[in-house]
Amino acid sequence: MKQDRKFFVEKKSWSKTKDDLLSAYLVPYFAKISMRAEKLIYFDGFSGPGLFHDGSSGSPLIALGIYDKHVKEHNPRYNDAAFFFSEKKADYRASLEEAIGTRMHAASETAVFASYEENLAAVVDAARTTSKHLSAFFYIDPFGIIDLDFGHIKTIRNNITSSEILLNFCSPGLLREMFCVKKINGMVPKDVEYGNEMRFEGSDEQRTLRLDRILGGNWWLEMAQSHKSGTDNYWDLEKAISDRYRQNAANLYTYVISMPITIPGSKTLKYRMMHMTNHPDGCITMNDNMIVRKRHHNPQSSLFDEDIDGELLGSSRDDEIQQTAEKLVATMPFDRKIQLGVIIAKLISATGVTYRSSELGKRFIAPFEHDGVIQRADPHANSSSWSNNRIEFIRRRMGS
Ligand SMILES: C[S@@+](CC[C@H](N)C(=O)[O-])C[C@H]1O[C@@H](n2cnc3c(N)ncnc32)[C@H](O)[C@@H]1O
Repeated sequence: MKQDRKFFVEKKSWSKTKDDLLSAYLVPYFAKISMRAEKLIYFDGFSGPGLFHDGSSGSPLIALGIYDKHVKEHNPRYNDAAFFFSEKKADYRASLEEAIGTRMHAASETAVFASYEENLAAVVDAARTTSKHLSAFFYIDPFGIIDLDFGHIKTIRNNITSSEILLNFCSPGLLREMFCVKKINGMVPKDVEYGNEMRFEGSDEQRTLRLDRILGGNWWLEMAQSHKSGTDNYWDLEKAISDRYRQNAANLYTYVISMPITIPGSKTLKYRMMHMTNHPDGCITMNDNMIVRKRHHNPQSSLFDEDIDGELLGSSRDDEIQQTAEKLVATMPFDRKIQLGVIIAKLISATGVTYRSSELGKRFIAPFEHDGVIQRADPHANSSSWSNNRIEFIRRRMGS
């Protein structure tokens, strides 16, 4: 059986973590969009056959199942959601169509395309022609990195402001291709596994251009070429490249966070899941969701001690977060209300996934209220609550 076909035989634990991250996010996401009666497009670019051989649902059925449950139980009158899937392999596509067709679902429209490019073009077209407020969620889960293209993220962002992306960023596959095409002596740690991704073909020049397209520029080249062989250095490079990619995405979306998905019981990374959104609530929900997933799937590691990347939390990391919070508060306009959620989401996007949102408020924003730098816009608001992200704050002028 070919490698990529093995993927759908039995769901691996890291795929379950990825599914859990998606499912836990879609529950409040679908609720929010349907309650506001907005038009929704759900895009799954790399859909697979829908069902694994072991009977577990793939990403298209997971999303449709959550949507159905929500609409039937909470909002049966909502019917403005279109689900756009794409799958390159004809037999997988046929299985997917059958799996969707044999289930009753509340989605107003489902479509299955033969390529994610076609699918993306259809979503952009729908966005251009709709007269309603459109929200769109993009789930991008390819094998490896060969099908990624930073230009597509720009296309999505430029055409749909209210879009969110959850992207599988397979950084080990990326490093392998960089080392290979640029003849870099980069020792790959022996427990790094690649799985199913396709190998790049073509001349070195074509392969380099392909990497530029995936990453949105040639910024990676200097980082890769200054790499010194060694296991620790390998993970440092992986983090540096992923961070830079995340920062570039943050030039398009206000809030971008990432979670490494590892092989259970080890720190060996399979890929990163990156979330991009312009909505503070979305960033906060995903932050809290990532923390729960990490604890759930790696019970031996406690997020009371480590951030999502396994870096120790505590005095120096906390100082860093506190300094970033200070800068954020210092740039708040005077006399204008700002929601706690916006401050917290900015803090998360700038410092990464560390603490739950309510904990971030308590630890890093409360001191500014205590010192009188900010105050609650409503003096009667419960001053001990740091879990209501709607609470508004005002920055005080000194001496006022
Ligand atoms: C990692 S699997 C997706 C798994 C799926 N998200 C799930 O959770 O069940 C990637 C899928 O993308 C498909 N694929 C690869 N290139 C594609 C393309 N250009 N357009 C659409 N699908 C593609 C592969 O055949 C494979 O089924």
